[in-house]
Amino acid sequence: MNPHVDLKEFQQQHGELITNHMVETIDSLAMPPTLKGAMIYSLQAGGKRIRPILLLATIKAFNKDPLLGLNTASALEMIHTYSLIHDDLPAMDDDDLRRGKPTNHKIFGEAMAILAGDGLLTFSFQLIAEDNDLTSDMKIRLIGLLAKCAGPQGMVGGQVADIEGENKQLSVTELEGIHEHKTGKLLIFSVLAGGIVSEASEEELELLEKFAYHIGLAFQIQDDILDIEGSEEMIGKPVGSDESKLKSTYPSLLTMAGAKEKLHYHLNEALASLKQMPIDTRLLTEIAQLIVARNH
Ligand code: IPE
Ligand code: IPE
Ligand code: MG
Ligand code: MG
Ligand code: MG
Repeated sequence: MNPHVDLKEFQQQHGELITNHMVETIDSLAMPPTLKGAMIYSLQAGGKRIRPILLLATIKAFNKDPLLGLNTASALEMIHTYSLIHDDLPAMDDDDLRRGKPTNHKIFGEAMAILAGDGLLTFSFQLIAEDNDLTSDMKIRLIGLLAKCAGPQGMVGGQVADIEGENKQLSVTELEGIHEHKTGKLLIFSVLAGGIVSEASEEELELLEKFAYHIGLAFQIQDDILDIEGSEEMIGKPVGSDESKLKSTYPSLLTMAGAKEKLHYHLNEALASLKQMPIDTRLLTEIAQLIVARNH
């Protein structure tokens, strides 16, 4: 077993590395300066970096060098950041604050915010395609899976269902489907990408996916809880955004106590999947625990 680093240390080291890598990479590209400024603004605006950290921690769990996944993790965080820029637009959630700072469109205007999101989305695939540390086979699998998890069958599909669910009373099953796609699929990519880069077996990939499915649901349930119980200062975005848009959320459908019960159910299921794998699961366990206990 490799020497254990705790999550805090791992997060500090790798979070900074990811931010620097994303910003330096975008900064080195020739493009209109306004676009570059808008893309870098949101990449530098903070954020927990939970998806890229999860990707790198999965590689570490297989006792491989986490840096093998640096470009893929950066690509994933770029897609996540694009999804937030678009999610905050007036046509979508219409929020003015993100990661403790004015949202992208508040600074750069709507047209530039849309284009900055488009730029981050498309560049992310280029970043993986041009990665010299991975085999062609790995890159094709990663690009295909990222497109699937981020696109119409994944996050984008979930965002559509989320919008179409506004002002309606949804069933818990319908809500679970929304959460699974809008938030869960990118978390599934985080973990599976780590497995692909680490040459995990098909059985291991299946267990990793099960783990990620449950932490994905837990992640969005806690996001819904924080939208009510958090403070703007704590979460860096407005509280009460869901209620003001009449969104169905776990607390709104199940009560706050019911939402918290579901949260712990998914944590336990996630941890049970991890226990079935002969890998060093310590960091992944800590990440799952952090997801349900986080206050931002
Ligand atoms: C927010 O994601 C959007 C959801 C999917 C709930 P995060 O909570 O990971 O946001 P950042 O990256 O830390 O800002
Ligand atoms: C959005 O969910 C998830 C994305 C795909 C961006 P939310 O709309 O709940 O995310 P926040 O609360 O604005 O971060
Ligand atoms: Mg939204
Ligand atoms: Mg939102
Ligand atoms: Mg939310």
